[in-house]
Amino acid sequence: MFARILAENAELRPLEPWQAAEFAEHAKRVRQDIDRYIPWAHTVVDEATAREFLQSYALKQAKDQGRIYGIWLDGVLQGGTVFRTFDTAMGACEVGVWLAVEARGRGLITTAVQHMIDWAFSARGLHRVEWLCDPRNTASAAVAERLGMTCEGVLRQGFVLNGDRRDVQVWSILADDHRPTV
Ligand SMILES: CC(C)(COP(=O)(O)OP(=O)(O)OC[C@H]1O[C@@H](n2cnc3c(N)ncnc32)[C@H](O)[C@@H]1OP(=O)(O)O)[C@@H](O)C(=O)NCCC(=O)NCCS
Repeated sequence: MFARILAENAELRPLEPWQAAEFAEHAKRVRQDIDRYIPWAHTVVDEATAREFLQSYALKQAKDQGRIYGIWLDGVLQGGTVFRTFDTAMGACEVGVWLAVEARGRGLITTAVQHMIDWAFSARGLHRVEWLCDPRNTASAAVAERLGMTCEGVLRQGFVLNGDRRDVQVWSILADDHRPTV
C-alpha cells in the first residue's frame, strides 16, 4: 500500500507478521502507557501473541477489511495505526492509533492519519472515516478534532475493556468534507 515519511526520521509503513518479535518488544515497552484505551495491549504479551495479532491483520488485509501500520522513529517502532475496520460495500472504515509517550506531542499521529484518510477517500473511494474514543481520552479526541472530524455523539456504555463498561465517543469525516492535506 504505502510507506510514508511523517517527519524527519519518522516513517509510517506496514507492520507484518514477520515483525512479531519487534512488535512484542514494543508492546512490552508501551503497555502501561496505552492499556487504559487499547484492547490489544492486554492480549499481546509475547512473540506468539504478537504474531497472532499481526496475522489477524494480515488476514484482514487479504480480505481488504483492515490494515495495520507501524510508526518508526529513528528506526525504533514507537507506535502505529490501524484500519480496524474497512468496509468497501458500505464505503466506511474506522481508524485507530497508539504512540509511545516519548514520541507524542509532535503531530506524528495526526500526519499518519491524514495519509490514511487521503488514501481511503482518494485511492479507495470510501465515503466515511470513523474515529471512536473514550470521552475521557482527551488526547485522542484532540487528534480527531485536528483532523477536521465531527463529533456525532456518544454510544452509551457501548464498549467493554478489561471488565470496564465505557461510553464511546463517535467522530467522523466524510469524503464531502475532505480536502487532501498531505
Ligand atoms: C492518542 C495519541 C496517539 C495522541 O498522540 P499525540 O502525540 O498527542 O498526537 P499527535 O501525534 O497528533 O500530536 C499532537 C500533539 O503534537 C503537537 N504538534 C506538534 N507538531 C504538530 C504538527 N505538525 N501537527 C499536529 N500536531 C502537532 C500538537 O500541538 C499536539 O500537542 P499537545 O498534545 O501538546 O496539544 C496518544 O495520546 C496515545 O497513544 N494515547 C494512548 C493510546 C490511545 O488512547 N489511543 C487512541 C485510542 S481511541
